[in-house]
Amino acid sequence: MAQMSAQLVPSLTGAKQPMENLQANPVPRWVVDDIRKMRAYPEQPPVIPHSIEGYQLSVNTNRCLACHKREFTQGSGAPMISVTHYMTREGQMLADVSPRRYFCTACHVPQADTPALIGNSFVDMSELGVGHAGDQ
Ligand code: HEC
Ligand code: HEC
Repeated sequence: MAQMSAQLVPSLTGAKQPMENLQANPVPRWVVDDIRKMRAYPEQPPVIPHSIEGYQLSVNTNRCLACHKREFTQGSGAPMISVTHYMTREGQMLADVSPRRYFCTACHVPQADTPALIGNSFVDMSELGVGHAGDQ
């Protein structure tokens, strides 16, 4: 398998030989228009519509929470981290963000306006023939 990986795995980096040295692509420009994007399905972690350049996110400091935590949303105008972010794995509510939701960028990422690496045929679930609540 490992020897065939070059044929099997679509080359996202462009390198024919995995060990080859290539020039790094320029870092893409992030979309920072502050417009909250539609989610592709209800449980999707929403993408980040603003710059996170230089925001520290470490064990001791979490810049994201300085705006998105319940206590600070009135001042910041940011949407509160949702109620699931306060739950433990067992569904127990905590007073503060749950450790499993602490490192925001594990799930939430900014977007860049770049061409898709591979084609995809994603169809929104609302177009799969399901009747919609409140349609009539
Ligand atoms: C200075 C305040 C501030 C900081 C710091 C901040 N945000 Fe935000 N965030 C906002 C505001 C305000 C919005 C609403 C959209 C907008 O104005 O950009 C938002 C929107 C979002 C959204 C979109 C929510 C949705 O429902 O579409 C996500 C996800 C998000 N932020 C994640 C993060 C993460 C992750 C970090 C840290 C890396 C972070 N934010 C840091 C203020 C902040
Ligand atoms: C394990 C993945 C994960 C992590 C880590 C995580 N989130 Fe989320 N986030 C989600 C998912 C999934 C949703 C949408 C469903 C939900 O609310 O649970 C969401 C929703 C949100 C929303 C939208 C809330 C709303 O009601 O519209 C904001 C804002 C947000 N997250 C911010 C953050 C911030 C800030 C952090 C870091 C402190 C963070 N998230 C960490 C997965 C995650």
